[in-house]
Amino acid sequence: MEYRRLGRSGLQVSTLSLGSWVTYHTQVNTSAATEMLAAAMDAGINFFDNAEIYAGGQSEVVMGEAFKALKWPRLNYIVSTKFFWGLANRDEPGSANRVNTLNRKYLMHAIDGSLARMGLDFIDLVYCHRPDPATPIEETVRAMSDMITQGKALYWGTSEWPADDIRAAWDIAEKHHLHKPVMEQPQYHLFHRERVEKEYARLYADTGLGLTTWSPLASGLLTGKYANGIPEGSRGALANMGFLTKGLLDPAKNAAVAQLAVVADELSCSAAQLAIAWVAKNPHVSTVITGASKLSQLHSNLGALDVLPKLTPEVMARIDAISAPLAE
Ligand SMILES: NC(=O)c1ccc[n+]([C@@H]2O[C@H](COP(=O)([O-])OP(=O)(O)OC[C@H]3O[C@@H](n4cnc5c(N)ncnc54)[C@H](OP(=O)(O)O)[C@@H]3O)[C@@H](O)[C@H]2O)c1
Repeated sequence: MEYRRLGRSGLQVSTLSLGSWVTYHTQVNTSAATEMLAAAMDAGINFFDNAEIYAGGQSEVVMGEAFKALKWPRLNYIVSTKFFWGLANRDEPGSANRVNTLNRKYLMHAIDGSLARMGLDFIDLVYCHRPDPATPIEETVRAMSDMITQGKALYWGTSEWPADDIRAAWDIAEKHHLHKPVMEQPQYHLFHRERVEKEYARLYADTGLGLTTWSPLASGLLTGKYANGIPEGSRGALANMGFLTKGLLDPAKNAAVAQLAVVADELSCSAAQLAIAWVAKNPHVSTVITGASKLSQLHSNLGALDVLPKLTPEVMARIDAISAPLAE
């Protein structure tokens, strides 16, 4: 495993990391999660991604139980969570400050909830899971910075924020000597590139922004498993994942994945390994957050590390010719 600095911070994150969206609680129970985390750590993965909203808080519970069972020294692993949507039902009395917000009131309660669900004293990385136009950025920056000052978190960042908002948050923190945002968590894969490659370009050297990217396989599309419809037992077949169906079955993208599989075959790897390695090849990416519903997928995806040195300029050009025209 290779380790990279998380942006300009001194924190070293493994090039591949493991997240729990969709999987933990829904597809992966505590004992399977424990097995997967152990295998990930054995392979050198040191960062595990989570969020308050995943499985309505239950993903944090499952990961916390796995950490407890594994008894790892706390210094050996990095764990994250993210705040924005909240866990309350929008129609519930008292929910006004508990949903879709980054206000100080919500954030200060949210961190305590995540710590309790995970059974931890602090969380390494905390993210503002989406921007909140209804809260002044300064209020959010102060709350996130205070979480760190209070010892409840170590670093903070954003997820899917516009570049202008990240820049504004960084400037506010700089001006008031607060803890600055050090990382962003954007979607980044062969079919989704604009933000990472263009919009954020001005931030890397300037603010030292690090990236912890999500969905390297476009939810599984880049494995090629959706070429002939939605396979049973896949993410696309889950009842609440209907919003992914159109994208997963996109004929042009599935045709491109078949072409990528030919390139992968020549490199003696799978299309999934090629797609994950392609994300890791971007030097602005601190860590590629992978996902797996089965241990075998995790093992296979770790093979992407061996593909990285095979991504020569010539191979990258071929991958680009196939995928770039379809990328958002
Ligand atoms: N910040 C955000 O807004 C945000 C949003 C989304 C995700 N994330 C983070 O990023 C992490 C990764 O995202 P993701 O889960 O969408 O990643 P992904 O790599 O695009 O998709 C992972 C899913 O693809 C399937 N898969 C993975 N490897 C496979 C293989 N080798 N062969 C066949 N199928 C395979 C599995 O689903 P099935 O087996 O069920 O088909 C797996 O759960 C999440 O866990 C989360 O931590 C963050």
